[in-house]
Amino acid sequence: MNLEGKDIVSVFDFSKKDFYRLFQKAEGLREKLRKRPLSTSEGKVLTTVFFEPSTRTRLSFSYAMLKLGGKVVDFGSVAATSVAKGESLTDTIRMIDGYGTDVIVLRHGLEGASRRAAEVAEAPVINAGDGSREHPTQALLDLYTVWKIFGKVDGLRVGIIGDLKYGRTPSSLSYALSMFDDVQIRFIAPEILQVREEVKKRIRSKVDFILYKDPREAIRDLDILYVTRIQRERFEHEHEYHRVKGIYKIDKKLLEEAEAKPIILHPLPRVDEISPEIDGLPNARYFEQASNGVFVRAALIGEILGLET
Ligand code: CP
Repeated sequence: MNLEGKDIVSVFDFSKKDFYRLFQKAEGLREKLRKRPLSTSEGKVLTTVFFEPSTRTRLSFSYAMLKLGGKVVDFGSVAATSVAKGESLTDTIRMIDGYGTDVIVLRHGLEGASRRAAEVAEAPVINAGDGSREHPTQALLDLYTVWKIFGKVDGLRVGIIGDLKYGRTPSSLSYALSMFDDVQIRFIAPEILQVREEVKKRIRSKVDFILYKDPREAIRDLDILYVTRIQRERFEHEHEYHRVKGIYKIDKKLLEEAEAKPIILHPLPRVDEISPEIDGLPNARYFEQASNGVFVRAALIGEILGLET
């Protein structure tokens, strides 16, 4: 079984077996692409449709497709399209699908937007982030990075700190971790940004988790600290954002005080939650994590398009 022709709307569209297979394929592609670009995707088109800003997700999907020998069409700025005249998401997706794209990568602020797009498109739809709900390929690259560093995902203690309420990467990562054995998750956030009930409900029977407010208590014996940005754009009231702005900062002092040396990951972009002074530490792996996105997304595109990679 592989993912040929499938939509990827949620992390639950992957199984543990899919993760391991895609990790291996990403490793193979890393080696092959070091020598030369491939031509396996020749004649295929990937369309990126981003209703919200992005650097990493849009570009890494684009680089992945180009390195596989395919072509990329970008929907461009929403303001320059007929969305600005009131065209609906589903009509927009129907049009792109009708032009003959082979895969659609969609980011949208509305929860469930990718599910809706997948219902109307014949081409497979990959969710590149829908509101606060999910970002499944971010979780794929997060776990690929973990697997590359530790050689495993089972048995690890993972702290997830920051905006667990509005962030979509913490929910997708938690769902993904819940498929592995003997993992412990520590959710570290002020009460108003703690992990959503719906996430706790979906992972409760599968993974051990604990809630914390104080990072010093939580991080001492962690294997991984996954840091996230406070999602200013998703707060209903600006004053609520200012109550929590800058509440956590991962810096040398915190790591020394806690006598902690976890691997530090971040989906990026960061604002002020990781001090640049730790960028040079051997356990700061967030830029490497972002680069891994190209290979694991190339592996995913290859499977969805039914290509030999
Ligand atoms: N991690 C991530 O989704 O980054 P972008 O918003 O830049 O795509």
